[in-house]
Amino acid sequence: MSREKFSVSEITLQAILQSVFLVTGKTIPMTANAHIANAVEERNITEAARILKEGGLVAFPTETVYGLGANVFDSKAVARIFEVKKRPSFDPLIVHVASFEQALSLWENPPPAAEVLMKKFWPGPLTLVCSKKSIVPDIVTAGLATVAVRMPSNPVALRLIRELGSPIAAPSANLFGYTSATNAAAVAEDFGDSLDLILDGGPTAVGIESTVLKLDEAVCQILRPGGIVLEEIEKVVVVKTDKTSRAPVLESPGLLESHYAPWSPMTLMETSYEVLLKKLEPLHKAFQSAQKPWPRIGALLFCPKEPCAFFESAEVLSSKGDLREAAVNLFQAIRKLDKMHLDLIVAERVPPRGLGVAILDRLAKASSGHIGVDFYFQSTREGMK
Ligand code: TXA
Ligand code: MG
Repeated sequence: MSREKFSVSEITLQAILQSVFLVTGKTIPMTANAHIANAVEERNITEAARILKEGGLVAFPTETVYGLGANVFDSKAVARIFEVKKRPSFDPLIVHVASFEQALSLWENPPPAAEVLMKKFWPGPLTLVCSKKSIVPDIVTAGLATVAVRMPSNPVALRLIRELGSPIAAPSANLFGYTSATNAAAVAEDFGDSLDLILDGGPTAVGIESTVLKLDEAVCQILRPGGIVLEEIEKVVVVKTDKTSRAPVLESPGLLESHYAPWSPMTLMETSYEVLLKKLEPLHKAFQSAQKPWPRIGALLFCPKEPCAFFESAEVLSSKGDLREAAVNLFQAIRKLDKMHLDLIVAERVPPRGLGVAILDRLAKASSGHIGVDFYFQSTREGMK
């Protein structure tokens, strides 16, 4: 595929990630030359559409996170998405459309709730799952009888879909299981030159993925919390929730316990930051008296705190404790801490309401279910024996 015809600012990012991360033993991809084109130049969007028409892969901005796109009707190109993302084939993709008509051309008899939700929330970060028509290739839906569709509000994404003339199948543009990408450089870190093009539309506005909602005749079910909060959806349709906690009942083929995870081990604070400091104090003293080097710990904080010597580095998600701002900064903050190759990242909980539900979901999965620091200090004690 020729890339000479258009102006692409070819950037060579530093090989910022080492090929082997000693603590975890996992291999981290090296960053090679990535082909990044600025979406401000219209001809780059036209070129991106041409690449998709020819069966190529293009990463593009949406209002949530960057997507890794292929023409939905090109099964070979869609297969390449699974390959470059290292994504298991049982995990279905979201199809991105630029109009209601395009969505309706993919669904078989969607329930009336679909139209109500489309009118209220599209374009925007809400994905609707309904029965699929046979024209949707099985590889897109991982063999499921349903297809997930959303109309993004990002103008670059909409232009790209319109220029292509068909919907775009796209998962988030990150390596499977790793932290999502909210800017073009983060996409390049994960994929280097293995994509045909990365369309750079600047940092994303919402910062966290779409809410995935499965539609049924009677009740709807949230499969993944995201950019549109439960309270807003409940204003227009009945949503199945856990009767005791009022939390959505979650399930999705792609929702594994560990997801969005940095290479460094990460954990969620048991309760509050203050309680964490109390817990670390005696441990720090014990390390000092044993003359053992204190681990390099990074703090991922919801709002600002007094600097503390226990932490090598701290990332604050929102200076004002605002959930929207925290969502925008979440994935980039995790990536930033991860680049420091820390021994441990400890994340503060955010309030479990509104967008906080989706942020907590991402933090819990990035922590692979770990809560508190005991698991880490117990393992280091074992290692010191
Ligand atoms: O905001 C977003 O949704 C971003 C942008 C790029 O649009 N996309 C995204 O895609 O987050 P991905 O592949 O990372 O996550 C899609 C989720 C997965 O958990 C997948 O299992 C679920 O949606 N999903 C897709 N199709 C489904 C279906 N037919 N039934 C149930 N869950 C489905
Ligand atoms: Mg994803």
